[in-house]
Amino acid sequence: MNGATAMRSHTCGELRAKDIGSEVLLSGWVANRRDHGPVRFVDLRDRYGIIQLIAEQDASPAGMEGLNGLHPEDVIQVRGTVRRRAAGQHNAERPTGEVEVMVAAVEKISAAVRLPFEIADYIDVPEEMRLRFRYLDMRRSPLQERMKLRTQANHAFRCALVAEGFYEIETPMLTRSTPEGARDYLVPSRMRLGSWYALPQSPQLFKQLSMVGGMDKYFQIARCMRDEDLRADRQPEFTQLDMEMSFVDEEDVFALVERVMSAVYLAINGQALALPLQRMSFTESVRRFATDKPDLRNPLEVVDLASEGCHLGFSLFNDVLHKGGWVRGIRVPGGGSLSRKQIDSIETAAKDAGAGGAAWCKVAEEGPSGPLSRFLKVAEGETPIDCPVKIGGLSRGGADFLKALEALPGDLVVTIADAPRRALTALDAVRNKAGQLMDFIQGPDRLLWITEFPLFEETEAGGYHPAHHPFTCPVMEDLPALLAGEKASIRSRAYDLVLNGVELGSGSVRIHDRDLQKTIFAAIGLSEEVANERFSFLLEAFRYGVPPHAGFAIGLDRLYALLFGADTIRDVIAFPKTATASCPLTGAPSVVDDHQMEELGLSQRTPAPLNEA
Ligand code: AMO
Repeated sequence: MNGATAMRSHTCGELRAKDIGSEVLLSGWVANRRDHGPVRFVDLRDRYGIIQLIAEQDASPAGMEGLNGLHPEDVIQVRGTVRRRAAGQHNAERPTGEVEVMVAAVEKISAAVRLPFEIADYIDVPEEMRLRFRYLDMRRSPLQERMKLRTQANHAFRCALVAEGFYEIETPMLTRSTPEGARDYLVPSRMRLGSWYALPQSPQLFKQLSMVGGMDKYFQIARCMRDEDLRADRQPEFTQLDMEMSFVDEEDVFALVERVMSAVYLAINGQALALPLQRMSFTESVRRFATDKPDLRNPLEVVDLASEGCHLGFSLFNDVLHKGGWVRGIRVPGGGSLSRKQIDSIETAAKDAGAGGAAWCKVAEEGPSGPLSRFLKVAEGETPIDCPVKIGGLSRGGADFLKALEALPGDLVVTIADAPRRALTALDAVRNKAGQLMDFIQGPDRLLWITEFPLFEETEAGGYHPAHHPFTCPVMEDLPALLAGEKASIRSRAYDLVLNGVELGSGSVRIHDRDLQKTIFAAIGLSEEVANERFSFLLEAFRYGVPPHAGFAIGLDRLYALLFGADTIRDVIAFPKTATASCPLTGAPSVVDDHQMEELGLSQRTPAPLNEA
């Protein structure tokens, strides 16, 4: 890359031994300054690197004067000559380390006051401070590097999709609400007082309308806005790689997404993905891993102890089963080595996830030990069961129980008995915690498709809402049941892409039939009147010839956090928000002038203090 501009002949990272003797013009920030009597050094920094400037009293008095009194982060422009550094002064860690620039003249372009933190990679700056002074954080290597990788990855996606014949179509930011399951950010209309735009939660309906418009293959690197409770991997505004295709089914979508993901892995990691990716149905994933986004690097699996016919005679287990609950266990190979404190932390994880507790035992050749063991051991005076794997002192129930879990001496066994919803989150938490404690979660990235999601999810209040969004097509075989009013068991043609336990993306084959779309609206409790009011434009478009279509959206911030090895998605976003959806840099959200409120027909309220999440 040639970095020359009106204000520099070279960038600060560009000069090498081949440039020795050249006259150069450089611009950048003062990274640090060292005075050694008649010799003065300054490290000049820009995005491209650092170059050492030198001035000597005898050889360059003007340069010596110019480098005097500079402060860290002043922006300067220097003229000088490239020369080889003195013998023994080479800096092998810097690409420019063989040379330095003997300064002839210096111009201070912009002075910097004392900084809130030093611009140095090794300094640990609290995140609040980094967000408040994001432009200073940006001068350090981690953000510089991630913005570079983000550019390369976006470019790889774009190139791959354009090469596949996709059109990049920008969709509106001021629009009507799109139901993606979160609250909308609303924008009041000045032209039509009392009316509101919604910022898009995703471009879902516009991409479908583009298919009705015959665009055939759409993509967009799209900003999405969702007012939802934030977690580590959620931001109120985030970016999706959004795609839609016509005359396709899920196989076409899987193949396309795999190809573009592989192009990005190649661009960033230097290695394409091994394709096709693994697939697993939602039902299998939940049964084996207690989640619809399993981290397959963690080998621990869930065993349904009720279906394995284990009759422990343990009243708590039986009571839970009678009430329709679950009794499931996880065998942790080698987990017998975990300390009491570590096992307590597994139990705490289960409780934090909402379960009443977790019952466990360690398995050894002489028999089980720990809270569960008394239910597994043979009563005094009775003959222990002759267990095929050498575990002593077991009752018949105990032997069945350990056999179902395939437990061996040296293992830890953890069980959860609870109502299904609570048991599921607790088993997921136990699996994660035990996997971490045993150091199991490592190795290469594990990407997989989760398929055949249910169409509806039961809400806490006992109703149903779409598991993906209401434009997702049901599995046609399940249509008669759906029409008969059944909801819980209806399968959908929705799919997710999961990477190391993180939901990276979602999509589905869409409904392209107006009547079926109306049926789904009705099934989720939208009256015909409300459905017409909110989605008349879609239902109308569906009267003019609709191609069958399907699509997908990848959460780019999540993907990039994983791909670039960042701790949170905030670390791959240039200007992220905090957990309370605020921006410490600009102070947004903020009150606005009274006259702006009046123009919008709104009355000002004193803002409430932020709810710390
Ligand atoms: P969905 O709502 O599942 O699907 O979103 C797709 C992907 O976007 C990412 N994502 C988020 N990332 C950061 N912060 C958030 N608050 C956030 N919410 C979602 C996730 C998620 O998998 N229109 C559909 C896609 C389709 O059907 O084509 C949609 O938006 O990685």
